[in-house]
Amino acid sequence: MRVVIIGGSGHVGTYLVPRLVAAGHQVVAVSRNRREPYQPHPAWASVERHTIDRAAAEAAGTFGAQIRKLEPAAVIDMICFTRDSARHLVEALRGSVAHFVHCGTIWVHGPSAVVPTTEDQPRAPFGEYGNQKAAIEAYLLDEARRNGFPATVLHPGHIVGPGWAPLNPAGHFNPATFTKLASGAELTLPNLGLETVHHVHADDVAQAFERALTHRSVAVGESFHVVSPAALTLRGYAEAVAAWFGRPARLKFLSWPEWRATVAEAEANATWDHIAHSPNCSIAKAERLLEYRPRYTSLQAVYDAVQWLIKDGQVSVP
Ligand SMILES: NC(=O)c1ccc[n+]([C@@H]2O[C@H](COP(=O)([O-])OP(=O)(O)OC[C@H]3O[C@@H](n4cnc5c(N)ncnc54)[C@H](OP(=O)(O)O)[C@@H]3O)[C@@H](O)[C@H]2O)c1
Repeated sequence: MRVVIIGGSGHVGTYLVPRLVAAGHQVVAVSRNRREPYQPHPAWASVERHTIDRAAAEAAGTFGAQIRKLEPAAVIDMICFTRDSARHLVEALRGSVAHFVHCGTIWVHGPSAVVPTTEDQPRAPFGEYGNQKAAIEAYLLDEARRNGFPATVLHPGHIVGPGWAPLNPAGHFNPATFTKLASGAELTLPNLGLETVHHVHADDVAQAFERALTHRSVAVGESFHVVSPAALTLRGYAEAVAAWFGRPARLKFLSWPEWRATVAEAEANATWDHIAHSPNCSIAKAERLLEYRPRYTSLQAVYDAVQWLIKDGQVSVP
């Protein structure tokens, strides 16, 4: 198929583009051309690349027409963040694409309730990002079910892989947390450290996108979580990381108001966002319908990322 990926050179695209090329698809990647994928791959030589700034093209009202002109059989939209943006594209592509796969997020769920969370649980998102993604999901699934627009929505967890800092055991992104655990320094966690995070390796997200295309008949009109097989508690995550370096984790616990005062504001905000959701999502639906088979547990995925942080000098190991 001729597959257009909007935003194909990021975390997921780095793995998805080579997968699609290997599967025999004709791949067209759309971006502003400001960055290269995290890892080079010979597959990129056969990819048709187009430079379009979505924000500017949407403001001019031309983005949908520009994508339609690329004559996609399938469109993968990695970078849609508002319902208006989704609607603009759907209206341009209606009747001309066989499949439209949107990248959502598990933040369409608000705080976890009954876990593992399944896709059919009522949405109670909070925050602008989660609210908009939930509105996009509702819009696309309604378009699929009512008007036959061939949309599928995939909801990744915290995407990790070599090349960028993963969500760490303190629930934020400062790689110094890994250095603390590697060197046996004390790490303070909020509350009892029993709130959860749910990672996924970028290549497993790519696998799910590829399988959504090959399983179109059961994917259209549906949304799927794309996470590792199991979430981690912050405490369990910290203990496992320390063990990689042959040490017990020296953990201390503080109530949220006390803990937040011990870190920078950006870190406190990131941690709050993660523990207030405490995601723990089921992949049973994606396993059943898409034959999604994640290759990485959460810890294996993070291990890959931490090895890269060490090589890059962002994490020091004594
Ligand atoms: N990161 C996570 O942990 C996480 C978790 C759950 C869900 N998600 C979802 O994952 C999606 C993002 O995927 P990703 O993490 O693979 O992306 P990413 O690494 O942020 O890469 C973004 C891609 O979009 C391009 N891009 C950015 N702004 C653009 C613009 N205005 N016009 C055209 N192209 C643009 C970038 O290339 P240029 O810079 O060269 O344009 C790049 O190819 C989002 O929908 C997000 O909600 C992410």
